[in-house]
Amino acid sequence: MRVEDLRVWFPVRKGIIETLLGRVEYVRAVDGISFNVEKAETFCLVGESGCGKTTTARAIMMLVDRSDVKSGRVLFRPHDEVLEEIARIQPNAIVDGEYVDIYKTRGRAEKLIRREVQIIFQDPFGSINPRMKVYDVVEEPLVVHGIGTREERFEAVARALEAVKLTPPEDFMARYPHQLSGGQRQRVAIARALVLNPSMLLADEPVSMLDVSIRAEVLEVFNELKTKRGLSLVFITHDIALARYICDRIAVMYLGKIVEVARADEIIEKPLHPYTRALISAVPDVVPENRLKLRYVPIKGEVPSAIRIPAGCRFRPRCVAYDENEWVRGFCEREEPGLVEVERDHYVACWIPIKRGPEGSSVS
Ligand SMILES: Nc1ncnc2c1ncn2[C@@H]1O[C@H](COP(=O)(O)OP(=O)(O)OP(=O)(O)O)[C@@H](O)[C@H]1O
Ligand SMILES: [Mg+2]
Repeated sequence: MRVEDLRVWFPVRKGIIETLLGRVEYVRAVDGISFNVEKAETFCLVGESGCGKTTTARAIMMLVDRSDVKSGRVLFRPHDEVLEEIARIQPNAIVDGEYVDIYKTRGRAEKLIRREVQIIFQDPFGSINPRMKVYDVVEEPLVVHGIGTREERFEAVARALEAVKLTPPEDFMARYPHQLSGGQRQRVAIARALVLNPSMLLADEPVSMLDVSIRAEVLEVFNELKTKRGLSLVFITHDIALARYICDRIAVMYLGKIVEVARADEIIEKPLHPYTRALISAVPDVVPENRLKLRYVPIKGEVPSAIRIPAGCRFRPRCVAYDENEWVRGFCEREEPGLVEVERDHYVACWIPIKRGPEGSSVS
């Protein structure tokens, strides 16, 4: 998948006068982000509450109003047979012969793409009828999409339950949600997403409601889906220690922007952005060796409103490095830094390492 310069702005409801005068304000929930997710890669979006993680996921799922998507596009590489069919029925949605521009799809092409990307939420059973048996919960998407005969659907449900290690599947099919543990319930939700044979899963804080003791069994399922089935995974969490454990690459988001992207171990061991440093230093045991090198990096104040984003670098009002680096202040105040590849496959949007290079970027 390629996400290119995506902006999702929600209009703020205002009075009639402001509306007539055309003074519309926006919550800039996602404010120009780009990233790629490879096949069989786990890509993590990390950041504090309100930085735009869920909105990004909703935009990829085509769950936001298209009129709120202010710029950018999402290109997706589906299964071959899906690509071929979309190329036949809606050639204008095909980009570079191998991607589908998801926002250009309509009708059947849109339906096909919706099957290719599935999402798993924090609270999987919040929206599911507790009186449905596991079998019906997992079978439902197939019924909704009109896929398969009864026997084929049974096979598909059994395979999906096996893939999430609810085995033997027959033992679980007739159970009700309340007869399962939290970890088993979340695995049923993953099976329900898998039954449509997607190429990619989005998981939005999938273990944050689970006891720490049962998180590993769910994370292990995600890991196997990647390694054994080649699924791509976009994993959303506010917990950078968890991100390191599960992900190949991590993107750190702040106020609607990606401020740093790199391989998980690289970003944890060598964070370049002052915000990433603060996130990591707040959980010292994420990398024991870091505790010695990285003194606690504070962040000043509160997250600003996503309606009035600070000019220049949006992190500047909270940045300790800005206070300590007089020579870059002009840049920080005037110009928003874009993501720059400062080291191999390590991108950062901060003027200090951009201007000085990674070695001179130390905050302390
Ligand atoms: N439908 C909406 N209408 C208006 N504002 C919205 C809407 N959805 C989200 N927002 C705002 O957009 C910003 C980003 O929200 P989002 O839910 O994407 O953040 P998040 O990173 O997922 O946070 P959390 O960690 O709390 O789940 C927030 O300021 C939020 O209040
Ligand atoms: Mg969220």
